Amino acid sequence: MTASGLPMTVPSPGLPARVRIHEVGPRDGLQNEQGTVPTEVKAEFIRRLADAGLDTVEATSFVHPKWVPQLADAEALFPQVRELGVRLPVLVPNERGLDRALALGAREVAVFASATESFAKANLNRTVDESLAMFEPVVTRAKAEGVSVRGYLSMCFGDPWQGPVPVEQVVGVCRRLADMGCDELSLGDTIGVATPGHVKALLAALGAAGIPASSLAVHFHDTYGQALANTYAALEHGVTTVDASAGGLGGCPYARSATGNLATEDLVWMLHGLGIQTGVDLGRLTATSVWLAERLGRPSPSRTVRALSHKE
Ligand code: HMG
Ligand code: MG
Repeated sequence: MTASGLPMTVPSPGLPARVRIHEVGPRDGLQNEQGTVPTEVKAEFIRRLADAGLDTVEATSFVHPKWVPQLADAEALFPQVRELGVRLPVLVPNERGLDRALALGAREVAVFASATESFAKANLNRTVDESLAMFEPVVTRAKAEGVSVRGYLSMCFGDPWQGPVPVEQVVGVCRRLADMGCDELSLGDTIGVATPGHVKALLAALGAAGIPASSLAVHFHDTYGQALANTYAALEHGVTTVDASAGGLGGCPYARSATGNLATEDLVWMLHGLGIQTGVDLGRLTATSVWLAERLGRPSPSRTVRALSHKE
């Protein structure tokens, strides 16, 4: 570490020069909070993230408010951050969600599918086929309006009800999301069970099926401490978009074994140490997570946030 609280830079060959971080803290992080976070705190969180240099901040979800009450204030929140000048994707499960998002001027939306039947049922009250049928008009209408669409795919590496998930099953649903017109696919390790060899095997199978790493993002939850190792494996395979959550917040209310996402600070520490550009100011980002942790009433689980905010 250098005296300035930044890692020493030692590049490693074969890695991308720049990585785009898709910050999911305000959505994936806050959807799992026990208590309700005030809308003003969410808006200030998003402002601070943008100020720290994150150019893509997933702001909220236009889902059924009874399913995810933590994000029921999407209508009140989105207009408060709309003009920040950063990309603000939002989750929409169906046309009702798309209508709500478009009415507020959202320019990027994400649908969220599952590789497994059990999670499709738990999260969307639909089979995999039914949920893809629900997304189809969402993607078509969004694209017609010039709105870009991300397709999430959950349970790509394991499922709490069904156990291991075969790579071919994941590739099959990815293919259907790509054929539907999704601009980018994000591979979700919802419960954090992936390991680097598995990540490489999935990326290789997707490549063989005509889905290149350049159209993919990775979305690792850190349940077993593997998220950073898995990210490194994905970078070696040509992935340049990585999802992460400030301070390591996160989880999924419909998959209890999901813990926080890869912490953005831990990711940035590694990327900057490798000489990979992100545009993120690590000091400002860490200060943001410390600020939010004070509001949530518990310390951030991010190792980097803890190390950099240690006062002694
Ligand atoms: P449903 O109960 O089957 O809904 O839920 P429905 O289609 O039968 O409609 C029932 C009522 O809900 C209707 O109202 C609809 O209008 C209303 P009524 O006619 O009875 O008065 N409704 C809505 N209201 C507001 N906004 C909407 C909406 N849709 C319907 N968008 C539904 C189906 C998909 C809506 C529900 O299951 C849902 O909202 N699920 C969201 C779950 C969720 O957000 N999960 C967390 C995000 S996914 C995740 O975290 C994983 C990820 O991070 C990647 C990873 O880690 O793997 C992305
Ligand atoms: Mg997630």
